[in-house]
Amino acid sequence: MTTLTTSTGAQYARILGTGSHRGSRVVTNEEMCTMIDSTPEWIEQRTGIKERRWATKDETVLAMATDAGRQALERAGVNPEQVGAIIVASVSHHIPSPGLSDYLARELGCPSPATFDISAACAGFVYALTLAESLVRAGHAGANGFVLIVGVERLSDMTNIADRGTAFLFGDGAGAAVVRTSQTPAISPAVWGSTPENVKTIENQRWTDVPDGDTDFPVIQMDGHTVYKWALSEVADHAGEAIRAAGITPEQLDIFLPHQANDRITDAIVRHVHLPESVMVCRDIAEMGNTSSASIPIAMDAMLHDGRAHSGQTALIIGFGAGLVYAGQVIVLP
Ligand SMILES: CC(C)(COP(=O)(O)OP(=O)(O)OC[C@H]1O[C@@H](n2cnc3c(N)ncnc32)[C@H](O)[C@@H]1OP(=O)(O)O)[C@@H](O)C(=O)NCCC(=O)NCCS
Repeated sequence: MTTLTTSTGAQYARILGTGSHRGSRVVTNEEMCTMIDSTPEWIEQRTGIKERRWATKDETVLAMATDAGRQALERAGVNPEQVGAIIVASVSHHIPSPGLSDYLARELGCPSPATFDISAACAGFVYALTLAESLVRAGHAGANGFVLIVGVERLSDMTNIADRGTAFLFGDGAGAAVVRTSQTPAISPAVWGSTPENVKTIENQRWTDVPDGDTDFPVIQMDGHTVYKWALSEVADHAGEAIRAAGITPEQLDIFLPHQANDRITDAIVRHVHLPESVMVCRDIAEMGNTSSASIPIAMDAMLHDGRAHSGQTALIIGFGAGLVYAGQVIVLP
């Protein structure tokens, strides 16, 4: 019988470096309330959002992903030629094919990485990290073993300004990380999954329903209340499962970095899993709004580079959103 060669990889993987790009136009709650019937106080009290970032015309998903990706490579000390695979998580790349990862490879000067895009909404970055970790451990990350992952969104393109129930939530930006082999465990098992009965809770309008002239892209339609209730019950449970899957207790965590969807959801998860006060809770949403797949890596990059977080600390990350999908795990910071 013919015996095939199979791949073998590393025992462990880790994040090696991060980068980010924030949309450059600051849209305050005051400005938002010139567009929708609301008040700055209502928005801040219900969500924690004080302002959000919207991309300018030149800040395309490709431009933002390139900026974040280049920073991550530089900080990881990795040359573009060494990248074995690129995974882009996004719901804002409006061309079915080629993937944004293909354009990104060209922009970054990566000669021949494996490239693919994933659509896992606000859990996209954690899904991409889980895939990257799996590639490294399976030996599918190329000769040098480096995987670049990017979460990038231009949700302002997909925001229905006529909908005062969602218009104030969303922002634009990109976050990136380089993943490679590790001598020690640095990415715990993912607790990930979906709740298919809620598939219609957050949906994009169909392309065929885009009205001529008014908007260029299919807008987001969301039953915010259902998302909120699901996050408080199921996502909060999954956060606890992710801590247990890492084999640690809440007291051993340094940082809680959830998807930046709503500060009240963050607070509820903190209470549900009994995070002690020693755990720093990330609240990047105040300045960024909800940037879907980009929110976790953008916030992680900021915390690492403004001194709030340090290499070697443990962080619980958890993404959740349209699908409804979720993914949580504990990581060691680069
Ligand atoms: C969107 C969200 C902030 C709305 O908050 P809420 O408390 O659920 O608000 P509701 O839709 O129940 O509306 C409550 C009241 O506020 C009003 N309201 C809705 N939008 C408003 C706005 N922008 N400004 C002022 N009032 C508003 C409603 O009309 C309603 O008024 P009523 O009580 O007189 O009928 C909240 O549901 C949420 O954050 N959900 C999660 C969404 C999310 O994170 N999605 C992304 C997941 S990745």
